[in-house]
This record gives sequence, C-alpha cells and structure tokens, in this order.
Amino acid sequence: MAIGFAKAGADVVVNYYGDEAGARHTKSAIEACGRKAILFKANVAKEAEVRAMFSEAVSEFGRLDIVVPNSAIQLNAPVDEMTLQQWQQVMDVNLTGMFLTAREAIRIFKRQGIDRSISYAGGKLIFISSVHDIIPWAGHANYAAAKGALMLLMKSLAQEVAHLRIRVNALSPGAIRTPMNVEKLTTPEMFQDQLLKLIPSKRIGEPEDVSQAAVWLASDQSDYVMGTTIYIDGGMTLDPEFIAAG
Ligand code: BGC
Repeated sequence: MAIGFAKAGADVVVNYYGDEAGARHTKSAIEACGRKAILFKANVAKEAEVRAMFSEAVSEFGRLDIVVPNSAIQLNAPVDEMTLQQWQQVMDVNLTGMFLTAREAIRIFKRQGIDRSISYAGGKLIFISSVHDIIPWAGHANYAAAKGALMLLMKSLAQEVAHLRIRVNALSPGAIRTPMNVEKLTTPEMFQDQLLKLIPSKRIGEPEDVSQAAVWLASDQSDYVMGTTIYIDGGMTLDPEFIAAG
C-alpha cells in the first residue's frame, strides 16, 4: 500500500508495530521511487501514540492529504472458547485503532482546509476493511464484528464531513497475499481445497490489487465517491457456493 502511494508520487509515513524489518524494507522501496519515507512505531489502540504519530507526520512533511487506517489482527476461537482478552484486543486494534486514526486525520484535514493546487478534496480517508464487513465468519466473531462496525463508522464519518469535501471511503479485500494469510497460502490443502473454492476468479489477490484501488480513491478521479466500500475480492462476495448449487 505504502509503496503503491510512493509510485503515485506521495511521500509516506509508515506506521508499524511488530514488524520493524518489514517497515524498513518498505521505507527503502519508497525511497527507491524517489519519495520520502518516515517510519513510526505506534500502537494505534493508544490515543497518545496515535497523536504523536500525526504530530511527527505534520512536522516532517508540513501537511497531510491522505490517511489509510489499515490496522488489523486476527485472534480466532470458537465463541464458547473466546476469551474476553481475544475479543478486546481485536476490538482495540481493528476498530478503536481505526477511530483514533480517523479522528486525528479529520482534525488535521479540518485545520488545513482545501488547497486547490493539491486536490478538489479537503483530505481523503481510506479505511482498509474486509469482505467480513458483510460475510459472517464462524470462529472469527471478534474479527467480523469489528469489520461490520467499521462499515458504519466509515459511513457515519463520510456523512459527517462530506460538506468539508473530506472524502471517506473503504476498501474491503478478500484473501490477499500478505503475512496474515501465510498459513493458508503455504498449506496446499487449505489453499486448493478451501480458499480457492471461495474465489470465483480462482486467484489469490496481490497487494497491488488493493493499492491500485487506494490510489484511485485518493485521486481526484474519484472526487464524487463518498462513503463507499469497494470489494477487492476476486468475487468472494458473490456467494460462490451457488455456482454449483441452488
Ligand atoms: C482476512 C483473510 C481472509 C479473507 C477472506 C480477510 O479479511 O484477513 O485472512 O482470508 O478475509 O476470508
């Protein structure tokens, strides 16, 4: 995602939490595109850390035009075995982290106002959600509940700040080749017999499938798009089990 924005001409603040080596690799890739990159380590569930991240971004780059709240973890368990901690941690990172990040972004967008030499919009927020904002997911109730809530957080914010020309939208990916999906991608039975059966286009999504849509949502080409979710899922949300039944 960050590299996609750098290719499109943006300087990027990359926030990370656990994966410092991955963040460094991303920074080098951004710099190889001729853009600036700042690494920041914030736990997005912590208000003070999120505020510090945004202060650093504005003091280094002078302004902020695009924010992509992208935090998510999975702590899976059948509901009768799910601990309160598993529930709470997923809510903290996948939902509260999104709120804290969006709130800080909107505060800054409001303060900056619109600069027509940059964009018609007064800032863009692009939440990274999941197909599980509409597909229920047994064994992952915490994850699906957070994503479902994220959809109405996104739409409510979009409605609230549209008059300021701040555009708020979401991308909902299906199964993408990311570290979160390593086990499914490297275990042939899980990949062939389970995952691919859920994807009508019969291919796993690549990070670029998501970042290209994010760049479009951040551009003035999508200036009239507000409060929308774009599914980037190879057809996963098209009820694939109906292909051979029903
Ligand atoms: C999850 C993936 C999963 C996909 C489809 C995404 O939100 O992060 O692990 O494969 O949804 O179920």
